[in-house]
Amino acid sequence: MSTVAVVGTQWGDEGKGKAIDYLATRADMVVRAQGGNNAGHSVVIGGKKYALHLIPSGVLNPSAVNIIGNGVVFDPEGFFEEIAGLEKDGIDTSNIYISDRAHIVFPYHKLLDALSDAAKGKNRVGTTNKGIGPCYMDKVERTGLRMCDMMDDEIFTAKLSAQIDRKNEIITKVYGADAVDKEEMTARYLEYARRLRPYIRDTGVMVYEAVKAGKKVLFEGAQGTMLDIDLGTYPYVTSSHPVSGGFTTGAGVGPQMIEEVVGIVKAYTTRVGAGPFVTEENNEIGDAIREVGHEYGVTTGRPRRCGWLDLVVVRYAARVSGLTGISLMLLDVLDQFETVNICVGYETPQGEIITDFPASLDLLEKCRPVYKELKGWHVPTTGCRDYDELPDEAKAYIREIEDFTGVPVRIISVGPDREQTMVRGELF
Ligand code: IMP
Repeated sequence: MSTVAVVGTQWGDEGKGKAIDYLATRADMVVRAQGGNNAGHSVVIGGKKYALHLIPSGVLNPSAVNIIGNGVVFDPEGFFEEIAGLEKDGIDTSNIYISDRAHIVFPYHKLLDALSDAAKGKNRVGTTNKGIGPCYMDKVERTGLRMCDMMDDEIFTAKLSAQIDRKNEIITKVYGADAVDKEEMTARYLEYARRLRPYIRDTGVMVYEAVKAGKKVLFEGAQGTMLDIDLGTYPYVTSSHPVSGGFTTGAGVGPQMIEEVVGIVKAYTTRVGAGPFVTEENNEIGDAIREVGHEYGVTTGRPRRCGWLDLVVVRYAARVSGLTGISLMLLDVLDQFETVNICVGYETPQGEIITDFPASLDLLEKCRPVYKELKGWHVPTTGCRDYDELPDEAKAYIREIEDFTGVPVRIISVGPDREQTMVRGELF
């Protein structure tokens, strides 16, 4: 296969960074198509940990071209911080291109993100405060600034000035907060514009030509299916499309250009922020998963909510993204349990068992998980390098996932390092 898309099947944080890094080492091009620096991918190479937010994971592969597509919301401040960190570690960052159609995140987006989420009180989403929602709001409202606006100082200054005036009205009059400093921000962003010009391209053409030339192109998803603005647990979602459909609009290519769609499944479930979570274990089981799985946010440092694997969620993700394979991550975190639960349905208050993920969160909140209890393997799997080396109980766990979702498990990960990865058949 020469084109592979990788999507999160749960609420993000499935360990996409590692699976993507594995595929990125084989890729000629790596493309981000949605979200922004709300994402946090951590990749461990030779014991050293790299945290990526906005920059595609291909940056760790010296021969890959990295594309930040038109569907991404681009934060110049975050971008240059990330570049500085990578360069300090001796990583070459010269092979990065940003779509001229990508929307720009400004400081007023971040401020409004914090103000509007806090104003929701107990209904707050718990956003990352990276300005993602407000930037996408401007895009949909058709008032946003795009990277192409940065090519001309005069156009950029005029558009930015009008936006700052509008946002300051909202910041001061709706929220009673302090206005942002127009002069300081304009000067700073004009400087960013100058520094960013060499990176700006019509990246849709680059991706199209790479696919046509038979290059190996990896479409790198951020967040997860349940955070999709249309298909996730609305309103506790992000503002973009982390499902596979998001790659076509967000990279500017047709759907037939994506041959394989690999869904990243964590061997259990986590989520950050608010919203119903049927298999949550807010007790010593959840705590044990959190500690062994290091379940704390890469972007925010927040402890994640933890629970058993919810196959209703994973099967839903398989359907809406048309998964052709699964990459099962962090299987070793379950090594500690004598029995493991796997959720195969939800029981409604009326006693009905549902297996299709419902739209209504009011209903979801009242659902109880229907578990299948499996025998745990209770031995370390971190040293396994081949599927055949896995304990039988772990293989049975994997078979349950395949049977319920109808999707083969192609990659299995049992630790953070590149070597702790088992691949069944050639993928890329
Ligand atoms: P936003 O994307 O900052 O607007 O946040 C909206 C929701 O998505 C919040 O619950 C965040 O915690 C969640 N979220 C955003 N990005 C990620 C991610 O990369 N991993 C996990 N959760 C995320």
